[in-house]
Amino acid sequence: MKECSFPAWLAAQAADRADRGLTRRLVDSDGEPLLDLAGNDYLGLARDPRVVAGAVEAAQTHGAGAGASRLVSGTLSIHTELEREMAAFTGFPSALAFSTGYHANLSVVQALADPDTLIVSDAHIHASMIDACRLTRATVTVTPHNDVAAVARALTDRSQRRALVLTETIYSVLGDAAPVAELAEVVAASDAVLIADEAHALGVAGPGGRGLLAAHGLAGRPDVVATGTLSKSFGSQGGLVLGLPAVREHLVNRARPFIYDTGLAPAAAGAALAALQVLKAAPELADRVRRNAAILADAVGVAAPAGAVLSVPMPGPREALAGVATAAGYGLRIGCFRPPSTPDGVSRLRLTAHAHHSDEELALAAKILRLVVAGR
Ligand SMILES: Cc1ncc(COP(=O)(O)O)c(C=O)c1O
Repeated sequence: MKECSFPAWLAAQAADRADRGLTRRLVDSDGEPLLDLAGNDYLGLARDPRVVAGAVEAAQTHGAGAGASRLVSGTLSIHTELEREMAAFTGFPSALAFSTGYHANLSVVQALADPDTLIVSDAHIHASMIDACRLTRATVTVTPHNDVAAVARALTDRSQRRALVLTETIYSVLGDAAPVAELAEVVAASDAVLIADEAHALGVAGPGGRGLLAAHGLAGRPDVVATGTLSKSFGSQGGLVLGLPAVREHLVNRARPFIYDTGLAPAAAGAALAALQVLKAAPELADRVRRNAAILADAVGVAAPAGAVLSVPMPGPREALAGVATAAGYGLRIGCFRPPSTPDGVSRLRLTAHAHHSDEELALAAKILRLVVAGR
């Protein structure tokens, strides 16, 4: 075998990424005041003084860190308060908080799948769910994006006793909604469980931002388990699993990314609780995000999305990067997804709408975006 030193291997990997226009860079959001259409702080709450005060107060009361796993000594009253409030808001009987949404997804799939389980996973599912499947000894079938008939076939044809169906309710890359009502029907008919990631729906979709499951009357159903993140609409950090108390109890006992992880930082819990109060007092924020998304969609010539995320296909990764650079030159921060972050291999611009952008800001953004898409 040819000798290849570790630094030389790293350099070869970097050169290959550069050749294909796929080098990823960390993006610094301190500094120049760009109008942000890239981040997921959809309600603008990460810097809201009420939310920041919630973080400060929680840190002063409970400390800077939880200090241990929730099963050792790391369960604080602010965790249980957060779980109670989030469950009540979303319409589920119970909730469990995690240090990230990534951990929530790893946990729920790992703990609910056993070797006699079939996992049916949408082709566009988030990386955290893909990694979660890899943590299990279950059989995994990937179905085409939003193809309910394919999900039904996989469930009917299975030899496994149990089955989980994985979906995002609003997809993070394409920004489209899953057919959650149809999926729930198929799941009920097949004695399966629907695991629905509401990361991009909470705060944005459903009544007062309660999510797409609530919008379809599916929140709280025994065969529906939801996951969520505190890092997007809630402007903080952390994750959630929402479901029956028995699901919560099972995760506490079986979910390795929960058991062997330090409890959520008190400041993150306090910020999320404060953000939830803001959203409950101003339910129109969710409508405002979708209204602003429709304005941006019109500017770039795509259909209005189900939530905040807009996806604009580009000819290739270099064109996507050039679009981002052009927008930045005009003071507009937009995102792009390139393979391997796009499930279909299509490079695209990713724009996100926010509740707090004024009509003047949106008009300016629309003007710049028209230039960007015209240069494709
Ligand atoms: C669909 C989806 N699920 C889960 C996550 C992970 O959430 P967190 O950032 O809280 O780890 C993300 C994104 O970050 C996401 O887009």
